[in-house]
Amino acid sequence: MNMRHLISPLDFSVEELDKLLNLASDIEANPAKYKDACKGKKLATLFYEPSTRTRLSFESAMLSLGGNVLGFSDASNSSAAKGESVSDTIRIISCYADICAMRHPKEGAPTVAAMKSSIPVINAGDGGHQHPTQTLTDLMTIRSLKGRLNNLTIGLCGDLKFGRTVHSLINALVRYENISFVLISPKELSLPDYIKQDVLDANNVPYEEVEQLESSMPKLDILYMTRVQRERFFNEDDYVRLKDRYILTKEKMNYAGKDMLVLHPLPRVNEISVEVDDDPRASYFKQVQFGVYVRMALILTLLEMAES
Ligand code: NCD
Repeated sequence: MNMRHLISPLDFSVEELDKLLNLASDIEANPAKYKDACKGKKLATLFYEPSTRTRLSFESAMLSLGGNVLGFSDASNSSAAKGESVSDTIRIISCYADICAMRHPKEGAPTVAAMKSSIPVINAGDGGHQHPTQTLTDLMTIRSLKGRLNNLTIGLCGDLKFGRTVHSLINALVRYENISFVLISPKELSLPDYIKQDVLDANNVPYEEVEQLESSMPKLDILYMTRVQRERFFNEDDYVRLKDRYILTKEKMNYAGKDMLVLHPLPRVNEISVEVDDDPRASYFKQVQFGVYVRMALILTLLEMAES
C-alpha cells in the first residue's frame, strides 16, 4: 500500500501536481468518463470549523465520481463535543470511509490525524496555516485561464497575516520559474516573517510590500483578493478598523491591464464590489467550478495511490 495524504501543498512534487492538474482538465473536458470512477467508495468530511464552499465542493466532487459521502459540518454535533481527540476520531472514521477531508481551527490537526489514519487525509484548512486544496483550485484556475504557471507577477491583497489560502499559494508558486509577488496589506496584516524568510527569501523569489492597491495594479498578471479573517482576530475593534481597507471597485479595475485576472477564494465580504463581477477579468466564480474538478482529481489520485 502506497498511501499518501495532502496536508501541505508541498506534499506533491511539481511533476505530481502537473499530473493532477492534467487529470482535472481531462475531468473538465470529459466528465462522463469519470462518473463511476469511485463507485462504492466513501468520503468522510470532518469539518470542525464553518465552511460551505469547501465542504460542498468535496461532496459534489465525490458524488460526481459516483461515490458516497458522510460526515459532520459542526464539531458540536460530533464526539469532539464529548472530548474525543482528533487521533481517536480518525481511527474510528478509518473504519467507516475510504478517504477523508478535514477542516480544523487548530494548526496541525490534520497532520496529527494523518499519523493515526489508515485512510488518506486531505487538509481542508487548518487554522491560519494551510489550505492546500484551495491552492490546487487556484493553480488550476491560473493554468487554465492564463495558460501557464510561470512568468507571473501576483498581487496578494488583504489579510496576508491570517489568510491561509495566501500562505499555501505562496508555498506552491515559488516552485515555478520567474514568479514575483506584490504583497498588499496594512502593516498589521502583513505576511508573517517566517513565510518571507523561509519561503520567499529562501527561494530567491522577489517581492515587494506595499499598502496601496491601485499603484501596484498595472504590473499584475493576477490580483488575489482576500477577506479579513474576522474569526482569527483577538479584538473586534481591530477587525472593524481594518475590514474595509481594500475594496476593489469598477473604477479601480481601470488601473489593471486588460488580461489581469481577479481571483478570490471566497467567501467575499466587502473587498470586491459586486459591480466588478461582470468584468471579464473577474474569475472568482470560475475558480469555484475549477475547485470541483481539481478535488475530483485529488480524490481519485489519492484513492488510486492507496490501492496500489
Ligand atoms: C477560505 C478559507 O476557508 O480559508 N475559504 C475557502 O475555503 N474557500 C478563505 C476564507 O475563508 O476567507
